[in-house]
Amino acid sequence: MSSTRSKILSVGTYIPENLWTNDDLKKLMDTSDEWIQQRTGIRQRYWAHESQSTSDLALSASEQAIERAGIEKSKIDLVILATLSPDHEFPGTACFLQAKLGLPGIPALDVRQQCTGFIYGVSIADQFIRTGMYKHVLVVGAEIHSKGLNRTTAGREVSVLFGDGAGAVVMAAVDVRDPAKDSCVISTHLFADGAFAKELWIPAPGSSYPIAARMTHEMIDQGLQWPQMNGKTVFVHAVKRMPEAVLTALEANRLQVSDIDLFVFHQANLRINEMVAKQLGIPAEKVFNTIDRFGNTTAATIPIGLNEAVAAGKLKKGMLVMSAAFGSGFTWASSLIRW
Ligand code: UT7
Repeated sequence: MSSTRSKILSVGTYIPENLWTNDDLKKLMDTSDEWIQQRTGIRQRYWAHESQSTSDLALSASEQAIERAGIEKSKIDLVILATLSPDHEFPGTACFLQAKLGLPGIPALDVRQQCTGFIYGVSIADQFIRTGMYKHVLVVGAEIHSKGLNRTTAGREVSVLFGDGAGAVVMAAVDVRDPAKDSCVISTHLFADGAFAKELWIPAPGSSYPIAARMTHEMIDQGLQWPQMNGKTVFVHAVKRMPEAVLTALEANRLQVSDIDLFVFHQANLRINEMVAKQLGIPAEKVFNTIDRFGNTTAATIPIGLNEAVAAGKLKKGMLVMSAAFGSGFTWASSLIRW
């Protein structure tokens, strides 16, 4: 007996042109290539042009994904966009993307789960497809961090980590006989713990402040408009939660680490991914990392990783690919996909 499942038809990405090496950052702040590479594994990142917005990056990645899917864009039933760097506070950036795609009328949904946003988006798309409500869903992760970072020495612990970019997938309904063997999204596993929301966040502006204090000069002087991160706490939780999310997916599908062909993890810090792999006994050649080239592109990271893995010949049809992510919220998640 067959069932309706979702399948990733294609991946597309957009990487901005402006390359910033670690040495280039020295023009803006007191840092060093050695510090950044040793602590994070990052060698460079790309930052968008000032004229670009997050929905522009999302549009380019989406157009590539739709073209590679070989479908008319009018087949798309739903647009899901994960980002923590929206074009504007409201409306959602998925609305701007939907308009730029020229798809009036179809629903447009923003996902605000930061580094975990893309997996949350894939999971939402998977549910809509399995129930038969939609047949083709565009899931995008896109970020322009560069315009929202304190790119001075005061903000260096955060600003050296992040890059801009976008990645998109087209997911489609398929008839699957054996979900464990046929090409499809096998399972997704989502988690959050808001008790840690202020470990990595942007405090202001926001509706939590009184009217007169929503955004004040004092707040700007204190830098509350910039991301604030307790790096060590985030690190400690990431190396615990990501392996947990992987094990949850393995147990749900009665699989072992050795059954997985490739791990495409979120890219926040190379040391995090090395520690996750070590704990789970994953050989280094099965972990596909991109952080050295792109830095942390938050919601765009996993689709960019999938795209790069395909281009490098590491991810091929029929393979079992596991993704896991951890980030602000705290949120964390895993997905298991038969490619
Ligand atoms: O996807 C979002 C989730 N985010 C993460 O997963 C990030 C998790 N955390 C991390 O990746 C690491 O904690 C960091 C990379 C952010 C920091 O690495 P660390 O090994 O925890 O660094 P540290 O806190 O031990 O080192 C801090 C020192 C300080 O100097 P002192 O006080 O020891 O003299 C900082 O001022 O390093 C200094 N520092 C820098 N120096 C040069 C901080 N940032 C920089 C910098 N360049 N960019």
